[in-house]
Amino acid sequence: MTDNTKKTPRTKPRFSATFDPFTISEIQRAAATGIYDIRGAGTKRKLPHFDDLLFLGASISRYPLEGYRERCDTDVVLGTRFAKKPIHLKTPVTIAGMSFGALSAQAKEALGRGASAVGTSTTTGDGGMTPEERGHSSTLVYQYLPSRYGMNPDDLRRADAIEVVVGQGAKPGGGGMLLGQKISSRVARMRDLPEGIDQRSACRHPDWTGPDDLEIKIEELREITAWEKPIYIKVGASRPYYDVSLAVKAGADVVVLDGMQGGTAATQEVFIEHVGLPILSAIRPAVQALQDLGMHRKVQLIVSGGIRSGADMAKALALGADAVAIGTAALIALGDQSPELADEYARLGTVPGAYDDWQDGRDPAGITTQDPELAARLDPILGGRRIANYLSVMTMEAQAIARACGKSHLHNLEPEDLVALTMEAAAMTRIPLAGTEWYPGRQGF
Ligand SMILES: Cc1cc2nc3c(=O)[nH]c(=O)nc-3n(C[C@H](O)[C@H](O)[C@H](O)COP(=O)(O)O)c2cc1C
Repeated sequence: MTDNTKKTPRTKPRFSATFDPFTISEIQRAAATGIYDIRGAGTKRKLPHFDDLLFLGASISRYPLEGYRERCDTDVVLGTRFAKKPIHLKTPVTIAGMSFGALSAQAKEALGRGASAVGTSTTTGDGGMTPEERGHSSTLVYQYLPSRYGMNPDDLRRADAIEVVVGQGAKPGGGGMLLGQKISSRVARMRDLPEGIDQRSACRHPDWTGPDDLEIKIEELREITAWEKPIYIKVGASRPYYDVSLAVKAGADVVVLDGMQGGTAATQEVFIEHVGLPILSAIRPAVQALQDLGMHRKVQLIVSGGIRSGADMAKALALGADAVAIGTAALIALGDQSPELADEYARLGTVPGAYDDWQDGRDPAGITTQDPELAARLDPILGGRRIANYLSVMTMEAQAIARACGKSHLHNLEPEDLVALTMEAAAMTRIPLAGTEWYPGRQGF
């Protein structure tokens, strides 16, 4: 008989794939505190994404454009369906809605400055419009949210477009959270709620329950704004074919589709990681819905959720989107990289760019905070320059790819320019697997 007591002891713990170190620490944390984890940003796990697609580029069968001599245009017009004053942007990358409350007033101003410098739009968020962001945003989209925090009919008229938020990719079906430490007197005043007390935003609008009522709501918004402003409807990606079809039926000029990689200011970790669809899987059904209704390119499609670069933007456009929106990447771009701040981030157990405890309001760079001392560290002019630089780079990257594919406008990119690297990506996008003409479900190959 073997004597197990004589076995050589292990020198390292052996973790299972199911109970990995993070899972163990989460169970231990839950047991110790009785509180679920709340954080900002988007999903951390690896999901099918734009990295699973590649562009083919031109060679003999396709003719590329010369970078220094031949134009590749980037402009986009949003809201051409009903609005008397559609929005003209110089580049199809916009700044997504992020609330004043989640972000400091300085951060909102910097986003406005950066977006305006490159001729694109920025968006308000839960909690209303600040004079700083209106003043520094040449094109400002005003969010009309379930919570109605900070909603003001005069601000509807001051905006250049209105975005009716039905949901967000990080938490489709759920509302936002803003914890007491970020409810300064200004944030509280704007939201008509008490200072220093945790706030939860509603997960559904109080005055409509379905697409027929939404249609009436949209008409009301059009009447208030003299049919001038484009009306967007933003949905979290969960049933994109039906949601996009219903948004079009309800009268949207523009549909914003936000995938599960999308950032949030704060919500339950379990929500961020387990609800919604990766944006890669949601674009094709959304485009299909628009095509089936004869509305592709007539109702514009903006996609968001984990967009990081000009390559991601170009891939989204090639799949049929008209523009993209960024949240997390803009906050990373806004962040200060100086070594002193790196030390402060280290004390919070993180590094610049990866910090995601946005709910705590202790952001050393002054972006996701309402602490007046921390917020004062963010110079909106310098921050605006960083945003403008980053948006310009994204645009130039997308142009470089489009020219290599022989396209004189970013919107001429098409599915035919792409291949998929994985079976999953091929199945989700109906882009053929690299080196084949086949994707799962395609007949006759
Ligand atoms: C700090 C922060 C605050 C946000 N606040 C709002 C909001 O008020 N309303 C909203 O519709 N979405 C909000 N979002 C989601 C963004 O509008 C957008 O859908 C998401 O950031 C896009 O994904 P990305 O962060 O990967 O670019 C917020 C996101 C972040 C990062």
